[in-house]
This record gives sequence, structure tokens and C-alpha cells, in this order.
Amino acid sequence: MMTAELDTIAQKMVADGKGILAADESSSTIKKRFDAIGVASTEDNRRDYRELLFRSSEAMKKYISGVILFDETIRQKAKDGTPLVTLIAEAGAIPGIKVDAGAKPLPFCPGETITEGLDGLAGRLKEYYDLGARFAKWRAVIDIGAGIPSYTAIRTNAHALARYAALCQEAKIVPIVEPEVLMDGDHDIARCYEVTEFVLKETFQELYYQRIRLEGMVLKPNMIVPGKKSAKKASVEEVAEKTVRLLKSCVPSVVPGIAFLSGGQSDEEATAHLDAMVKLGGLPWKLTYSYGRALQAAPQKAWSGKAENVAAAQAAFTHRARMNSLAALGQWSAAEEKKAA
Ligand code: 13P
Repeated sequence: MMTAELDTIAQKMVADGKGILAADESSSTIKKRFDAIGVASTEDNRRDYRELLFRSSEAMKKYISGVILFDETIRQKAKDGTPLVTLIAEAGAIPGIKVDAGAKPLPFCPGETITEGLDGLAGRLKEYYDLGARFAKWRAVIDIGAGIPSYTAIRTNAHALARYAALCQEAKIVPIVEPEVLMDGDHDIARCYEVTEFVLKETFQELYYQRIRLEGMVLKPNMIVPGKKSAKKASVEEVAEKTVRLLKSCVPSVVPGIAFLSGGQSDEEATAHLDAMVKLGGLPWKLTYSYGRALQAAPQKAWSGKAENVAAAQAAFTHRARMNSLAALGQWSAAEEKKAA
């Protein structure tokens, strides 16, 4: 195994003041996002939209360490014929690829899912490496509800994540290990803590069984937050304190970095939470962002499918990326947000 190569890529993914742009929405998810802004989800529109992000040179050069792509995008060319992967690499960012095949119903576990995509993965990883990908992502989904998650769902998903991670490392690709505990329910923050703890402990146990080199991976977890429908809200300080306490108890310190998902938090919440965690200090790993919605909601709205809005969309993307970069350094403030908006 090329351990030095893996470690170097993982460290670059979580470099100071930089984070990951999750632009790997599947065809059905990007359609949902485009529906919301009245844009038809055609191959050209998807290309135009992603091209505008990757051509946002200030954001890409200063604040984005890597971009997670969908299979279609890693093969797509910009309008002028340049491969989109080349645009990303020329900005100094690392191209990455989503390799899971989505969350499918888990037998005997109503309402729960198992993420599929292990069959043939070794071959696909080889192809993605040749197309320029140096890291990958696999998302396991754990839902909280009445009587769930089951141990079956937690264990099965952790096992699949670890099998994926092993195949990645063997292919010289850094795995982003993403066990996402959803924030959709009405559960309180304590329940999110308890479930995420179980999920992370199980995940690291499986990573150990599959002989994963922890120095050559990046963890992408949810933050510890109450469910969206919970009546009990949590302060930024409480989210930061609980998330860091939990991660310290579950994530070995040789893991180079933790890049959070935004999971449905508002743009500013996702930024404020990250900033507050970094400000706590004394962390054994880097903390940064691997946001999809919290980096893209603003540029999507500004763009709305119109060529004349490209500059405004790029400005909106650059602003969000800069705010999250400041947060990853523990230098963000609400005043900074308003000043630059
Ligand atoms: P969100 O930040 O929108 O949760 O997306 C990140 C991601 O890649 C989910 O798999």
C-alpha cells in the first residue's frame, strides 16, 4: 500500500483554512435542487452549473481543498472542451468521486437502509483513479425514529463503510468515511449524541477489522444537533461542546481530519457551529467542512439557470467558501458575515 501517498492526500484535504466542496449530488438530488430554482435538470445545465463553481477561481484556489464529483461530472467537459477535472486540478484542488450506489431498503428493518455499491468497486476505483480522482466518498445513512436505528442497520452500514475504505486504500484513493446520522426527526440533542456515539464506535471498530490506515482517511460525520422537528433547540456553544466531546471519545488522534457534512443546517448555522468547535481549541485532528447544501444553496439561488447571473453566483459561492474557511480557522464572526455579504 502506498501509505505516504495516501497520508499526503488526506492531509491536503484538510489543509489549514480549506475544506471540501460536496458537488456529488446524484441525478435525482440535483433535479430536486434545480426544481427549487426553476431549472430543468439537463446534462448541459448540470455541466454549466458545476462549471461556474469550478471556475470560481478565488474560492477554488483559496478555500477549497477538494471537490467530490458524481460519475457524470468526472467524465464531463466544460463548454470550451476542457475536462471539468482539469479545471479543478488547475485551481490546486483535488478531484474526488462519490462511489456508493445509494441507500437501499435494509431487509427485515422497516424504515432503515443499507448503502450499496461494493460489487465491482475495485474495478471502478481503478477507472476513477485514471480519470484523476484521488479521494472517494461513501455515505451511510442512519435515521433516528421510534425504535430505530437498529443494531442491524448500524453494524451493516459500518461494515460496508469499512469494506469500501479498504478497497479505496488499496487503489491509492483516500476514503472519506461518512456515517451520517440524519437530523430529520423530532429527537433531542441527547438522542443524536447517543446514536452518533454508537455509530462512530462501531464504524472505527469495523475500520480496524478491515485494516484501514487511519492516517490515510478523512471522517465525514454529522454534528451533534437536535432533530429539525425537535421543540428543544440547542445553542451554538452546546452543539460545539457536545460534538467535540463525542468526537474526542470516538475518533483516534492519528486520523488527520474531520470534515463535517451540513445535513440540512442553514448556511450560517453550519458556519457558526464549525467556528465554535475550532475556537474550543486543543483538538487532536483538523476540523473543517465538506458541505453540499451549506456551500451551494446561495450560488444556486443566485444563478437560477441564467447565464447573466454567473458572476453573482460565483460571488455567492466565494462568500460562503470564505466564511467557512474563516470558521475552519476559528476566525469567523457574525460581524464578518454581515460586513462581507
Ligand atoms: P450536505 O452538506 O448537504 O449534507 O452534503 C454533504 C454530503 O456530501 C452528503 O453526503
